[in-house]
Amino acid sequence: MISVNLTVNGASVTKAVAPRTHLADFVREELNLTGTHIGCEHGVCGACTMIVDGRPMRSCINYAVACAGSDVRTVESFDDDPVMSQLRDAFTRHHALQCGYCTPGMLATAYDIVTRLPDADEARVREELAGNLCRCTGYVGIVGAIRDVLAAGTHRNTLLKARPAAPVLEQSRPSALAPAASPAPSSSPASAVSFAPVTDGVTLSRHIDVPVPAAALWRTLQDIATIARCLPGASLDKVSPDGTVTGAFQVAIGPINARFGGAARVAFDQQTHRGEVSGQGADPTSRSRADGTIRFAALAAGDDASQLSLDLTYRLGGPLVQFGRPAVVAGVVDALLVQFAHNLARASQGEQVVAARPIGGGLLFAMLFGIVRRLFTRKAR
Ligand code: FES
Ligand code: FES
Repeated sequence: MISVNLTVNGASVTKAVAPRTHLADFVREELNLTGTHIGCEHGVCGACTMIVDGRPMRSCINYAVACAGSDVRTVESFDDDPVMSQLRDAFTRHHALQCGYCTPGMLATAYDIVTRLPDADEARVREELAGNLCRCTGYVGIVGAIRDVLAAGTHRNTLLKARPAAPVLEQSRPSALAPAASPAPSSSPASAVSFAPVTDGVTLSRHIDVPVPAAALWRTLQDIATIARCLPGASLDKVSPDGTVTGAFQVAIGPINARFGGAARVAFDQQTHRGEVSGQGADPTSRSRADGTIRFAALAAGDDASQLSLDLTYRLGGPLVQFGRPAVVAGVVDALLVQFAHNLARASQGEQVVAARPIGGGLLFAMLFGIVRRLFTRKAR
């Protein structure tokens, strides 16, 4: 259990919760604020949308502990809010609800639209509402209500706040593995970050066949500059003597094009040809963050072939979570690994590899299309 402190509807709340407790469950189960509804629990339907630090947030896929220090507003808290009061009246006038199940989430999103986009036309309102599903009314009434409130003038978002910095993990790294060798000693700019192995996130396991002996693969794995060039979207700033690496990683998921700047620590076990990378990064533009641990091993697969074994455990925070469902992340990782495996094989055979471009555009579209197709194929069976 972790003690978490939030401000919920203006009141400071401190509770001990399991790290996996979602914000939606936290407010409903722990605080009995059942105005927030849960529909899909996958970040798809928008029913659970609430306002956190002045911005709409899917509370079914954000952890309560990740919102520590934030100002959380549920539908129960808007009695005296002038913008919400106009929205409520407009929803009533336009018959913008029937059963009302989606309404708390619709109002949270509508609040964001009318305060952020004073010039939004109908097409833009519909686009902004695309993440909120209503099974009853269709959207004509909801769109009409929002347009009415937009037409009434400019509205200020009085709840908007700067987001607190991403929490820093506090744990020491395991000592069994030796730090990465340093090609260029430097002071560590990542001294504020500690590198705890992530054990409670989502885990993906993958194996990549590499057509070189395991010893050659192991040599390449220890050349961090080369590995960074092999990985699409990765860029390296520094490698310090203690194995600390700073750099960035760029990836596009859905409408978010994120560039995570951060630090990791790499350690190698020369006896077993195994290693571990733990790190964290943040993307200031999307206000998303990620931390994770990769355990890797160079395994022999015959005299001239080897296999790279990877176990990735990760956690996402911030808006990227909304697009980072495990199937989507697994698709991104697999798309990355196709290019990474190709580059790794070339590097292990002594070829020069130039920095690989970030994945995105057509490749991501193909990946997402593949996920959707797999889901529908599964359902059709
Ligand atoms: S319950 Fe559907 S998005 Fe959260
Ligand atoms: S009013 Fe029933 S789901 Fe929207």
